[in-house]
Amino acid sequence: MKILGIELDEIRLPQHVGIIMDGNGRWAQKRGLPRVFGHRAGAKTVRRIVEISAKIGLKCLSLFAFSTENWERPDKEIKTLFSLLRQYIKTERENLKKNNIKLIVSGDISKLDLDTKSSLEQLMDELKNNTGLTINLCINYGGRQEIIQAVNKILSLNLKNVTEAEFEKFLYTYGLPELDLLIRTSGELRISNFMLWQAAYTEFYFTKTLWPDFTQKEFLLAIKEFQNRQRRFGKILDTKT
Ligand code: FPP
Repeated sequence: MKILGIELDEIRLPQHVGIIMDGNGRWAQKRGLPRVFGHRAGAKTVRRIVEISAKIGLKCLSLFAFSTENWERPDKEIKTLFSLLRQYIKTERENLKKNNIKLIVSGDISKLDLDTKSSLEQLMDELKNNTGLTINLCINYGGRQEIIQAVNKILSLNLKNVTEAEFEKFLYTYGLPELDLLIRTSGELRISNFMLWQAAYTEFYFTKTLWPDFTQKEFLLAIKEFQNRQRRFGKILDTKT
């Protein structure tokens, strides 16, 4: 398939792409604007990337929207982030329905304000029978927290000697395809507590582009780069050498 001038192999699309959407604050600072303007511009990028993901037939897109560490930010910034999320839910509802998109959340949303939490839950419910792209919004999410809550559930059930496959049933991502590709924008070369378990064999794509400037085209180029990598999963593929 050729899309926006980029040739992609439909058969080897990644099943699941994760994105650490970083650089909103710096984008705003560079323009002499308050950080919240960067988040607003970042929310527009979310719309563009969701649109192109659905278009190419991606199965799952995980977006790191708010980490367990983000509570340390100024109150005003936290409020803006959640208000952008509520706006997104409101303005994108029909689009998501029309495009057969499903929404799930990773993270502990019991800590969110009631308004945000209930509008998220309502939207997830409305989209639950959709069969196209799944957006996995990671909110109040931390990879270590995810693993610990899984361990605690296992302990409370008195399970012993669980296997990897059994353990995975207690992760937020249970039922989603393997995380094939993880993109991080803004030039930071870290995983920052995102999908620690799921990233065991993930391919990484780091770019200096700040999240508000991340285009559909660069997203497709990241997928193209993924398709050019040789994944071995710890094995040797070519036994002749
Ligand atoms: C990182 O930029 C970004 C975030 C902490 C939040 C991501 C949120 C959005 C893209 C907008 C809302 C989301 C949805 C789903 C509508 P940063 O502030 O850490 O940037 P910096 O490192 O340059 O300071």
